[in-house]
Amino acid sequence: MSTNNVWTHKGTFLLAAVGSAVGLGNLWRFPYLAGENGGGAFLLVYALTIFAVGIPILIAETMLGRNSRRSPIMGMRFLTRTHRTSRAWESIGWLGAASAFIILSFYSVIAGWAIHYTGQMIAGTLSAADAEGVAASFDALLASPALLTLYHSLFIGSSALVVGLGVHRGIENGLRILMPALFAILMVVLAYAATIGDLAAAADFLFTFDIASLSLEGWLAAMGQSFFTLSLGMGAIMAYGAYMSGAASLTTTAFTIAFIDTAVALIAGLAIFALVFGAGLDPSEGPGLMFVTLPLAFAEMPGGTLLGAIFFLLVLGAALSSAISLIEPVAAYLVERFDLNRPQAVSAMVIASWALGLLTVFSFNRWALDSPFHALFGRSAFGLLELATNIAMPLGGLLISLFAGWALTHGEVMKEMRTGETWFRVWRLLVHFVAPAAVAFVFLRSLPQVQGYGIPAIGALVIVGTFAAGRSFLAERNAS
Ligand code: TRP
Repeated sequence: MSTNNVWTHKGTFLLAAVGSAVGLGNLWRFPYLAGENGGGAFLLVYALTIFAVGIPILIAETMLGRNSRRSPIMGMRFLTRTHRTSRAWESIGWLGAASAFIILSFYSVIAGWAIHYTGQMIAGTLSAADAEGVAASFDALLASPALLTLYHSLFIGSSALVVGLGVHRGIENGLRILMPALFAILMVVLAYAATIGDLAAAADFLFTFDIASLSLEGWLAAMGQSFFTLSLGMGAIMAYGAYMSGAASLTTTAFTIAFIDTAVALIAGLAIFALVFGAGLDPSEGPGLMFVTLPLAFAEMPGGTLLGAIFFLLVLGAALSSAISLIEPVAAYLVERFDLNRPQAVSAMVIASWALGLLTVFSFNRWALDSPFHALFGRSAFGLLELATNIAMPLGGLLISLFAGWALTHGEVMKEMRTGETWFRVWRLLVHFVAPAAVAFVFLRSLPQVQGYGIPAIGALVIVGTFAAGRSFLAERNAS
């Protein structure tokens, strides 16, 4: 992809961005986080952030990519030069690379579970299982570090292969089939979940907004999820935006991405909670939610094993198209910066991320209840990595919106937006004030609960900031 400047079709950015956005975040993470955080209240904060913060930042991030036409880290450097602002903004690129690396590490482990379930469906192992049987089978999977590592390696290896070989054709053609198919089969699952499950209870759970029931950390989780699901705040969208045609509208594209992404999450959520309440399962089951409920539905559905196998394959496809967008920005940077070739850059990123992923593997068995991470941070390594992304992505988004809103020259922004004056004003208002204020508000609200981690996070930021500021100081001195 790095060799071509622009996607072959005007609509491909949209397709690639939807491919990045729609993934485990919608099918796996949204339902389980909503379940853990009380349903409706979580959904409310999530939806508000998507529309008031997510869409404006999505526009801003695409704009930065399209305006610089470079990979995120180099692109930020280019923009700080051409717009004559501080090089400290380059921290946006660094923060993004760090989050991509962390997210990929656990994303791949979870996607690995879908490999396991594809196999189970094809083998028909779960075709007669009841709720307990399905849950027991999931627990058995988690108890085996060897199996989890195998699937993790398979998934991350295939993603690396796709990115290493160049994703251009693969993404375009693959997604055109994959996304509609996923949508269609999700509707079938929803329809079936409504007949065997309790759709009314699911709708009640998701659409009863009792904001008081949301814990402080729930606020952070909801905001983190809205960034996670739109692939925001870490340069993935910027990297794709670099290849976006100058003729496509930023606004229409951003709204379309957000709409499709939210629709997929809601359908998945409704289907899963209908099954949860129908079978008397626990909505706050945690990361296993999707993997326990859906096999149960497939077990009872006529032709369920075939449908189940197709479904989990589509989940894998959606996860793969997201994983690609996690590898791409970091790999592109390594190529530009260290003069590596593409396979070397991809391998370096993926091997390191694979190793970090082992922490997540052990978080579900050996280190589930007790580990050095519990002793230090009061949660598992997986919990800690998730928390880090809940903080890093909104922070990246905040910096992106501040940069696009305050640091970019007005004329350049107008040129990219090419939109009516009114919407331009609204967008500017959103990125100038609303998005930064919202992110700051949620950070401050959740601070008491994440205190222990807030301090290391702030420490890391100070280090990155000092580093960036120091470099910009030196660069300016050398230039004069
Ligand atoms: N959005 C993806 C999902 O919902 C996850 C993802 C892919 C992502 N690329 C990203 C998240 C970049 C943040 C940044 O599954």
